[in-house]
Amino acid sequence: MNRKHGEMSAPNKSYDPVEVEALKPENIERIRDEALAAFAAADSLDALQEAKVAHAGGTSPLSLANREIGALPPHAKAAAGKLVGQARAAVGRGLAARQAELEAERDARVLVEEAVDVTLPYDRVPSGARHPLTTLSERIEDVFVAMGYEVAEGPEVEAEWFNFDALNIGPDHPARGTQDTFFVQGPDSGEGEATADAADSGVVLRTHTSPVQIRSMLDREPPVYVICPGRVYRSDELDATHTPVFNQVELLAVDEGLTMSDLKGTLDHMVKALFGEDMKTRLRPNFFPFTEPSAEMDMVCYVCRGESVGNPDRPCRTCSSEGWIELGGCGMVNPKVLVAAGVDPEKYSGFAFGFGIERMLMFRHNVEDMRDMVEGDVRFTRPFGMEI
Ligand code: PHE
Repeated sequence: MNRKHGEMSAPNKSYDPVEVEALKPENIERIRDEALAAFAAADSLDALQEAKVAHAGGTSPLSLANREIGALPPHAKAAAGKLVGQARAAVGRGLAARQAELEAERDARVLVEEAVDVTLPYDRVPSGARHPLTTLSERIEDVFVAMGYEVAEGPEVEAEWFNFDALNIGPDHPARGTQDTFFVQGPDSGEGEATADAADSGVVLRTHTSPVQIRSMLDREPPVYVICPGRVYRSDELDATHTPVFNQVELLAVDEGLTMSDLKGTLDHMVKALFGEDMKTRLRPNFFPFTEPSAEMDMVCYVCRGESVGNPDRPCRTCSSEGWIELGGCGMVNPKVLVAAGVDPEKYSGFAFGFGIERMLMFRHNVEDMRDMVEGDVRFTRPFGMEI
């Protein structure tokens, strides 16, 4: 071997970068173009991130090529460095441009997808719901307002005279006892004596809406057509079918020549308007001190429409298969009541009826427990559909 010493380890002066595979210009151009193509093909920022790792990261072909430069002889370094440097700059620009494009697209999309409609109502505070007792009561009022009746209201803390005496409920009437009535203040006159007028009477929480009959007649000249909705009180325990505070609607008509048939026609119209055209009512004899004659009014069962009667295959829980549901009391206004309210019974006659809204809500909407109506839980009221 005639080789000079050192020949093997000395830098190869004639080393041509073109001969280093990774640094050949065609190769650099190819890996640059592949990188640019990969960036262009990335259709999301995530995909671009992957392309960046693959084509511009530490182990990308371009980085590997860059590392080869260090092994080149000094005179070859500049050219190879320039070649790789230009390719890296082009890749960097391509990456930045695509990044900017994709970010702009994302920003535009977010603006659309996450747009906040500032005109929508503010809804952080949970909304309440109107109570079905209120809406049913208003519905009943509407039926009568459409017929020309006025809505009349009276106080819930009522003079005993209006609640009882004027309505021909004498001092010995059981309804007056503490069992039914919440007394706020006893009468000035002696126990057991009828009070002559409102001034010296005791004060009670009204036990029915009938005192508004008296107030309405005293306030107006006949004819009087009023509908009186309101809260009433009786000392009952709260259970599935009783509540010490409940709502009644009372109706009073006073005019010349009114008869029981006007009452019956009015009741029939009401149940048709509230429950459907095929509805009707019936009257059963009863007694109320403030009406004469008096009747209990029933309506055809809203659920089975009478079809459960004599039909054991289709029993009805709502009317116990009787075909009728008791609605409330009614009658022709007792002449004594007309006199107490300053109306001439020779000239005028009147009819009245009254019923409880809770009971009507129970069978109209299948509410099985009255306690649901008084607990104030909006989960009960919401399904009735009146949110505010
Ligand atoms: N006020 C009676 C009650 O509460 C109902 C009624 C009103 C009866 C009007 C007849 C006439 O029971």
